[in-house]
Amino acid sequence: STYDIGYFVGSLSSTSINRILSRALIRIAPEDLRFTEIPIGNLPLYSPDYDTAYPPEAMALKDGIARSDAVLFVTPEYNRSIPGALKNAIDWASRPWGQNSFHHIPAGVIGASIGAIGTALAQQSLRGVLCFCNARQMTAPEAYIRYSPQTFRDDGEITDETMAAFLKDYMTEFRDHVMRVLTVLPRP
Ligand code: FNR
Repeated sequence: STYDIGYFVGSLSSTSINRILSRALIRIAPEDLRFTEIPIGNLPLYSPDYDTAYPPEAMALKDGIARSDAVLFVTPEYNRSIPGALKNAIDWASRPWGQNSFHHIPAGVIGASIGAIGTALAQQSLRGVLCFCNARQMTAPEAYIRYSPQTFRDDGEITDETMAAFLKDYMTEFRDHVMRVLTVLPRP
């Protein structure tokens, strides 16, 4: 069987290295994973005032997650946490109260930075948020990716063998994690 993976790119930048990383992950993933991006850049800022009538962009976000067997977050680190745009999207998806889209969903977290710690603190921060949202996160392996143009081409080709092997293993482990979670907790 195949698994539908909805993925979030936490950056709105037109030259995002995390978007490049997302392309690389899709290219190197096991063949039984199918990827669909869940866009976050067009969402208004969340307010509980919307709970009685979600706008179309927010409905599309929740539908995108509902159609996914699992979600994958590919995010930069902003000021040692996640970008506001990504937090905003998570807040939208977690509401209205009682309709949290992340309940029991298999989830993976990864990110790239040009800095030495490769989004470690953003990922830690994101993991805390996803814990509260009751997502079933893959906790190992972790992947703190230091981006360099010598390692990734813009189209997502990985030009470094060690990096390619590492990311291939990460995506294989992610597939196995998704499979294990869905065995116990099938998606509605
Ligand atoms: C950054 N950057 C950054 N990098 C990092 O490793 N830790 C951090 O805390 C921050 N903080 C931060 C804040 C803000 C507002 C910006 C714009 C940038 C640098 C960041 O890693 C770099 O810009 C990446 O290219 C961002 O990822 P995308 O947008 O290219 O995917």
